[in-house]
Amino acid sequence: MIRLTVNGVEHTLDVEGDTPLLWVVRDVLGLKGSKFGCGAGLCGACTMHLNGQPIRTCIMPLSAVAGQNITTIEGLSPANATPQQLTPVQQAWLELNVPQCGYCQSGQIMAATALLASNPQPTDADIDNAMSGNICRCGTYPRIRSAIHKAAGMMSASVNNPQAARNGELFSEVTLPQATNTEELSHG
Ligand code: FES
Repeated sequence: MIRLTVNGVEHTLDVEGDTPLLWVVRDVLGLKGSKFGCGAGLCGACTMHLNGQPIRTCIMPLSAVAGQNITTIEGLSPANATPQQLTPVQQAWLELNVPQCGYCQSGQIMAATALLASNPQPTDADIDNAMSGNICRCGTYPRIRSAIHKAAGMMSASVNNPQAARNGELFSEVTLPQATNTEELSHG
């Protein structure tokens, strides 16, 4: 048995320790937002957070993360979140229509979220460096960069005006585009 906390919920899993974490999260826990891409830790589609740090879960054996805290894209915001309940990164992604096919986007959002947690005001170079391991076959890189800058601005504004942030006033202009595949942004 291996214990693991995923999105704040503790699980005791009867799974072989060499099973990749991505398989466990998708097939055992049923959280499908994290995607299988290359299977070799090279594309970033499977990115989750281990104790807040981005990791490649397609090559991470379950035994290596036993007893630790994993966050998936589903853990960033509540199920069926209103626009105001999404994180600034998710809101910026929606507002700037970042996804194209969407396949890579949960990994992109997890990487961007980790970047902004450690560097709240990243430069273009910081963004390109931090996101360089997350491949997008649709070439959404310019929109990803813009969305990270926008999210950084939203986070900075909420720090400077926490009451407005609590009231949703800072993010009230955000609407969910009908054409956007939102499942990659939260629950997929
Ligand atoms: Fe299609 Fe990134 S949006 S692979």
